[in-house]
Amino acid sequence: MIYNLIKTVQQGDFLANEEAEAPPMEPYVAHKGEHWHRWIEGRPIQMLVVALVAVAIGGIIEMIPLATIESNIPKIASVKPYTPLELEGRDIYIREGCYNCHSQMIRPFRSETERYGEYSKSGEFIYDHPFQWGSKRTGPDLHRVGGKYPDSWHFNHMIEPVSISPGSIMPPYPWLAKNKLDTDYTASKIAVMRTLGVPYPSGYEDLALSDLQKQAKQIADNLRKDNIEMEGLEQKELIAMIAYLQRLGTDIKLNK
Ligand code: HEC
Repeated sequence: MIYNLIKTVQQGDFLANEEAEAPPMEPYVAHKGEHWHRWIEGRPIQMLVVALVAVAIGGIIEMIPLATIESNIPKIASVKPYTPLELEGRDIYIREGCYNCHSQMIRPFRSETERYGEYSKSGEFIYDHPFQWGSKRTGPDLHRVGGKYPDSWHFNHMIEPVSISPGSIMPPYPWLAKNKLDTDYTASKIAVMRTLGVPYPSGYEDLALSDLQKQAKQIADNLRKDNIEMEGLEQKELIAMIAYLQRLGTDIKLNK
């Protein structure tokens, strides 16, 4: 092929400049019987603006009712807002970028439901601001991970994934067992969630911190039963993370 190419090139003559001619452009004049639409077709900028307006109107008509009419969002009676500790755990989940490797949405296919359990319903996410559906599954989907393992499993797995799951490529998160959970904003977070439509009872902010501590103590007690002990165990960020993970997908979990 290369030989052929060289031979072909050698046969040609070099032409430095080729004269070219074209008739001058004729100004566009509308002629009779032409479709009215032709006017806009010849004007790209105007066409762009008009198309944008048309698409925006379509989008608004579709989206506004979806977001504003309550009955469009299927509610499930057993789906409850996160507890304060779970809410804090969720924020750590977001901070650590767990969604980069884990999705939280089980699709309604046999291959998914066999592996993860009941497929996700839109009504299960109504208190998730922002949602954690994710699109990347380097690790498994976590939507139904709640209740799948004991608390101590998560504790050890988070500190050193390979110790629990040999060959795991999940990074370790040992600082979660060192950092003290920052609860300065817990009450404000409840208030913010309420403005987003999460039905916390009024005044719940004041109870949030004591609820958080109660739940943290339960988890810490569970860990102690499995011989996990460290100073200030109740106050670690990891406790909040465990609370969150154990809650995931349990609102409508079916007995399996
Ligand atoms: C680099 C990708 C990656 C990141 C980031 C990551 N994981 Fe994982 N995760 C995995 C992989 C792979 C597995 C499967 C192997 C294992 O169990 O460790 C897994 C497993 C898990 C499991 C067990 C799931 C099951 O059903 O067995 C949990 C729970 C989990 N990860 C939570 C988290 C949390 C919480 C974070 C953020 C702090 C996180 N992961 C960050 C890759 C990741």
